[in-house]
Amino acid sequence: MSARKIIIDTDPGQDDAVAILLALASPELDVLGITAVAGNVPLPLTQKNALIVCELAGRTDIAVYAGCDAPMGRKLVTAEHVHGKTGLDGPQLPTPQMALHDGHAVDFIIETLRREDPGTVTLCPLGPLTNIATAFERAPDIVDRVQEIVLMGGAYFQVGNITPAAEFNIYVDPEAADIVFKSGIRLVVMPLDVTHKALTTAPRVEAFRAMGTEPGRMVAEWTDFFERFDKEKYGSAGAPLHDPCVIAYLLEPDLFTGRHVNVVIETGSELTLGMTVADWWRVTDRAPNAMFMGDLDADGFFALLTERIARL
Ligand code: BDR
Ligand code: CA
Repeated sequence: MSARKIIIDTDPGQDDAVAILLALASPELDVLGITAVAGNVPLPLTQKNALIVCELAGRTDIAVYAGCDAPMGRKLVTAEHVHGKTGLDGPQLPTPQMALHDGHAVDFIIETLRREDPGTVTLCPLGPLTNIATAFERAPDIVDRVQEIVLMGGAYFQVGNITPAAEFNIYVDPEAADIVFKSGIRLVVMPLDVTHKALTTAPRVEAFRAMGTEPGRMVAEWTDFFERFDKEKYGSAGAPLHDPCVIAYLLEPDLFTGRHVNVVIETGSELTLGMTVADWWRVTDRAPNAMFMGDLDADGFFALLTERIARL
C-alpha cells in the first residue's frame, strides 16, 4: 500500500515537535509539507521551530511553509506559560540551517489539494485552525478534495485549559474552527478528554532518554520541561502529549475510541468563547459531524511512539 499523504499544520510547541517526529519516523505517512501557524508562540518562532524539528529528524527534504501570523478576526493569544519563551524550551536549541520554502502556507495547502487526486490528502492540524480555514475561505473548491481532517482541539469532559470553557487551539481562533467544523469534511477530533490520558510518566520519559540518540534526548528534555506546568496544575504523573495523538491515530486508529457526534463551536459568548459543544449524549437531533475521541490505550500509544522515535 502506498503511504498516506498528509499535511501537518502546526504551532510547535514541544508536543507538536513530538508529533512531527512521529510522522517523519513513519513510512506509512508521506508528509507533503509542514505549514506553520501562529499559536503557542508567534509565527516567527513556530516556523523556526518546525525547521529545527525537521533537521532533528534528518529530514531537510521536507517543505516547511510560513502561514498566518494572527487569527482570522482576533488578536493572537499565545501560551508561553506552558511552552516557554521559544515554544520549545527545555534543551539547548540549534539554529536551523534549513530554509523555509517560498510562498505562503495557505497557497501551499490550496495548490496541493488541487494538484493531488481528490480524496487522497489528509490534513493534520495541531494548532489553531487559521491556515486551514483561510484556505477553505479562499478556495472553496478544495473542501471536497480533502480526504479527512484529523485534528487536536476541543474538550467535552475536560472542558477547558486556556479558559474554564475552552481548549487552547479552538479558543485562539474560534471563527476558523467554526468554518472547519461546518465544512462537511470527515473530522476526527482529539480533544483534551483523550489527550489527558496520554501522560508522560517517568518511565515513559526515561525510555526516550535511554535511546541514546539525539531525537530521544530532545524528546526527553522537551517533555521534562513541558511536564512541570501540567504536574503542578493537575497534580498528574506527567504531561499530556496532546498533538502526537493525531499522528498515532493515522498509524494505529484502534488505539482510540470515541463517538461520532455533533460538535458546534461557540463564537458568540465572551464567557464560553471557543467551547466545543459536543453532543456526546446525543440529546439533540443535530447531525453528527465529528468522530470525537474519548479514550486511548495509553501503553499502546507510548509503545508506538517509543518504537518510532527510536528509528530516527
Ligand atoms: C494544544 O495547545 C497547545 O498548547 C498544544 O501544542 C496542543 O496543540 C493543547 O490544548
Ligand atoms: Ca499544538
